[in-house]
Amino acid sequence: MYNILDDAFEKRYAVPQFNMNGLIWLESILKTAEKCKAPVIVGTTDKIVDKLGGFELLVSVFKIMKKDLGITVPAVLHLDHGQTVERCKEAIDAGYDSVMYDGSKLPIEENVKNTREVVEYAHHHGVTVEAEVGSVGGTEDGIYSDLAYADQNECIQLVKETGVDSLAPALGSVHGKYKGEPNLGFDEMASLREATDVPFVLHGASGISDADLQKAISYGHAKINYNTELNIAWSDAVRKVLTENQELYAPMEIFEPSKKALDEVIETVIKRTNAYQKSAEQVTSK
Ligand code: 13P
Repeated sequence: MYNILDDAFEKRYAVPQFNMNGLIWLESILKTAEKCKAPVIVGTTDKIVDKLGGFELLVSVFKIMKKDLGITVPAVLHLDHGQTVERCKEAIDAGYDSVMYDGSKLPIEENVKNTREVVEYAHHHGVTVEAEVGSVGGTEDGIYSDLAYADQNECIQLVKETGVDSLAPALGSVHGKYKGEPNLGFDEMASLREATDVPFVLHGASGISDADLQKAISYGHAKINYNTELNIAWSDAVRKVLTENQELYAPMEIFEPSKKALDEVIETVIKRTNAYQKSAEQVTSK
């Protein structure tokens, strides 16, 4: 992850993180990244990790699929919204490349203390850490949170006191579908960029316009997270094939159009974040 994020941050493009919700997602993310010669991050949200089979199974499947598909682009496995210090350590022990510790709902002193503990453990194992300040609003995996803008001083404190590798400052983005137009805090983004030197991570990117995305990338967002946009494409395709073929019951036939829908949206996002063809110029992942 170090190589991937540093390169993107320096050259001002972004590596997309696509969250996986099953094997179909993983296959599509890896194959499409390879086709586009783009570095890629596969995210697994902590809240559904156990439903997907647990950390160890996910690490094994990730490694085996990368090998079987002959993936040559940098592709890393990342824990999204790690709920506790212990969960982050479990993911690291299982072989994750990168973890996010999400202490954003805690008082800043506690967030800093816990993030620092995760960073110490992770760095000892060659794993990178992302942290969050403020609160990305909206609904993710059935859980609703209110939007709360990140406080600049808290962001600076967290970066300085933890040695974290990337920061997700909540600046107006939401998980899930936006109600109305997204309103990102670009002034806050600009002053936070001046005050800190770590790559930023943009959560809640589904529904953000290309123009806003490019602006966020120009302020050093080197990792951009997508889940909802993929899931809408997938579910629309499943709904369509079932509606049009009332007698259909063979799972592979039901899934086939949804795989194509995922491939298409993933390719669009890779181009949108400017990651297209970037792995050709990049050093290899760990
Ligand atoms: P979306 O719900 O906007 O796709 O965001 C996903 C995300 O930020 C995962 O951490």
